Amino acid sequence: MVSSNNNIYKGYGQAKPVGYDKEISHTDYGTPCGEYLRRYWHPVALTSEVSTTPMQIKILGEDLVIFKTTQNKIGLVHKNCPHRRASLVYGKCESNGIRCCYHGWLFSTDGEILETPGEHSNSKQAEQVRKKFKLGAYPIKEFNGIVFAYMGPPEKTPEFPHYDAYEISGITRRPYKINYNCNWIQVLDAIMDPVHTSFLHGQSSGIQFSEGFAEVGELEFFERGIQYLGCNTRRVDDNVWVRVNELILPNFTQAGSAFAADGTKSRYFGRSSFTRWVVPVDDNHCIALAWGNFGERGDPIEHNTKEGCERIEAGEIMDRTWEEKQKRPGDAEAVEGMGSISAHKGEHLMPTDYGVMVYRRRIRTLAKNLKKGKEPPQPQQKKGDIIRTNGQDTILRVPKRNIDDRKFIKSIGSAVMKMQFGAEKMPIKDRDNHIINKLTNMEKNGAF
Ligand code: FES
Ligand SMILES: [Fe+2]
Repeated sequence: MVSSNNNIYKGYGQAKPVGYDKEISHTDYGTPCGEYLRRYWHPVALTSEVSTTPMQIKILGEDLVIFKTTQNKIGLVHKNCPHRRASLVYGKCESNGIRCCYHGWLFSTDGEILETPGEHSNSKQAEQVRKKFKLGAYPIKEFNGIVFAYMGPPEKTPEFPHYDAYEISGITRRPYKINYNCNWIQVLDAIMDPVHTSFLHGQSSGIQFSEGFAEVGELEFFERGIQYLGCNTRRVDDNVWVRVNELILPNFTQAGSAFAADGTKSRYFGRSSFTRWVVPVDDNHCIALAWGNFGERGDPIEHNTKEGCERIEAGEIMDRTWEEKQKRPGDAEAVEGMGSISAHKGEHLMPTDYGVMVYRRRIRTLAKNLKKGKEPPQPQQKKGDIIRTNGQDTILRVPKRNIDDRKFIKSIGSAVMKMQFGAEKMPIKDRDNHIINKLTNMEKNGAF
């Protein structure tokens, strides 16, 4: 027998597959996390994709058909006709609904069976079915180029959330959609992982955004109700760059800008390059549906293109050869490469993964609580409220002082966050101006 050092070559010892976290990865109907997600409005398609030619989509593991009537009303319904299960993707859109191709049953956008034309007009059975049965349908709301749906119990329908991101003036919001071949948690994780931007986007793949991203910053995480913030503060020469990534549970995300901020020029409360949701398609796929935000407070207007949105979303364009992907992996390669559902039990979470750890744990808890009958919190408490968000970039000129610079820049990040939080009760416009003025003064007076 060949003797060996037992502390190396652990391949065989670790060959047994490890499991994944089912509690947060499974989102089909009836699963704890699937039910939890079914308490919120989610984007499901771009308005531009929806027409009088029905389109098949899958959301939270459900096969659905989305269409527009000839009167421009959008319907989101279960794919299969309740007569004998033909797919409504072959249906014909009419003025008041969609007609199944197989035997002509007509359904309204809210699922009413309007006609069963193959049955005798006196048929009691057909009348009964028309009266009593419905095609599965979901309420939708079309907003600024994105179609949102609520797929939970009707009596639990929450307010359609109104974020302050919709109110920032001078921003052009371009809707985009990116498909990912992996579980939603993998894509969501990246927003609570500020360190990956330094390596994936600043070193491993060359400079995907700007050189400043390559610097590993000082991290501080905040948990505020269902809002999770990762504040990453870096020094770029004489400037200090405070960048804030944001997750509002279950799946709303914002960050700073991708191209407008590079640490070299002052910036005061610049807002996110995207306002984005990560939505499960099924357990092995998800979509990011978002607006790319372009203009003075977002990313430069020249990136307002399909490719620009893809680079904002994932660091690279999506349609690339294997060689290109291997040389310059972006977020898609990083998260899809984990496998369609990452083996969470094989992870070794580090202090820098704190944000990932805490938000996952919270989702797990909220899903479990719902199973016990406790409804999860909504981002918007009451009608008319506007949800304040914090995703941003601030870059201030603060030269080094004769003190520990890592500690110093971290304290600047904390001061910026504290000031933002302090202005949260203000009306939206006042809040923005207040923050911008305060930051400008902080910089001018060196008051840190
Ligand atoms: S299967 Fe749709 S009408 Fe018969
Ligand atoms: Fe990324």
